[in-house]
Amino acid sequence: MLAWTVDHSSPSHLSLREVPDPVPGPHDAVIQVQAFAPNHGDLEGLPSLPDGTIPGWDAAGVVVAEAADGTGPRLGQAVTSLGPGSAWAQRRLVTAESVGITPAGADPNAMSVVPVAATSALRGLRRLGPVLGRRVLVLGGTSAVGLFAVQLAARSGAEVVATTRNPAARERLVALGAHEVIASPSDLSGDVSGVLDLLGGSHLVRAFARLAPGGTLVALGHAAGEEERFGYGDLFGDANRHDRSLTTYFLGAETGLGPDMTWLATEIHEGRLDPAVTAVRSWQDLPHAFAAGAQRSYGKIVLTVDRTRP
Ligand SMILES: NC(=O)c1ccc[n+]([C@@H]2O[C@H](COP(=O)([O-])OP(=O)(O)OC[C@H]3O[C@@H](n4cnc5c(N)ncnc54)[C@H](OP(=O)(O)O)[C@@H]3O)[C@@H](O)[C@H]2O)c1
Repeated sequence: MLAWTVDHSSPSHLSLREVPDPVPGPHDAVIQVQAFAPNHGDLEGLPSLPDGTIPGWDAAGVVVAEAADGTGPRLGQAVTSLGPGSAWAQRRLVTAESVGITPAGADPNAMSVVPVAATSALRGLRRLGPVLGRRVLVLGGTSAVGLFAVQLAARSGAEVVATTRNPAARERLVALGAHEVIASPSDLSGDVSGVLDLLGGSHLVRAFARLAPGGTLVALGHAAGEEERFGYGDLFGDANRHDRSLTTYFLGAETGLGPDMTWLATEIHEGRLDPAVTAVRSWQDLPHAFAAGAQRSYGKIVLTVDRTRP
């Protein structure tokens, strides 16, 4: 089969080449990949992966061989699947644990954004507990995860505040359900009950300072690429600041994701959740689509996997 593999001799750290088909273990089904959606973390991690690695966390496709032990998705079923690794290829191994079933007729491009972006938003928000009637800050509202978090938090009854450095993105965030859009946590007019943080660094520290008693900040992403430095007093508790917590998060350590991925796929297919796919391109364009200086817009760039050689 053809796959994008890590190749440090190439400026993109990638080359599309012929590799052996994956060999399924007893619990593995094989899917024919139809579309995949690279993530911030996939692209950042390329320079540190060994040559020959097939990268990528999420891919949507169709089952072409069932698992020998009878578990997992059935032959011909359309699924969306979660990594780690091996997504940027014509075929991929999946287990019962790593797939969501996608509705009949669903667009594989839209389905490919479910595993990392949408599922991280859903699971990260759950860490905040009930948000009905509470004020929630999505730090990094325009990130792929943030665009889902804004929608899901609003649907859960939260009063959503989202951040972006870009004033032109305000309208988009409001359309997705944000009640208020600000440039940074320093602009918050009052406290918040929960924070879903996709940025880290000084943003995290300033957002933690605005947490109401009993509030939680979920440190999910670190897109700002900065250190977090708490000063003396930042972690004090008093009448207005007691019982605040900060928790780290890793999607790869979450369990039982299948039903959540299936639900998210259905919500997208039935139009209740915007997949925020901003461009669909051939997978052969992968290095160009993400090259430094390539035009970017907020949301996901999805690559469709065709069978032609480059
Ligand atoms: N823990 C996990 O399991 C997990 C799972 C998924 C993702 N993540 C992490 O979550 C983060 C978001 O991922 P993503 O794929 O959603 O990101 P993304 O789509 O690449 O978006 C990043 C956003 O961050 C903002 N940003 C970038 N640099 C910034 C800076 N210096 N200061 C302030 N804002 C900045 C930008 O928003 P504006 O231009 O609008 O300001 C941009 O929209 C990443 O760190 C990723 O690795 C972690």
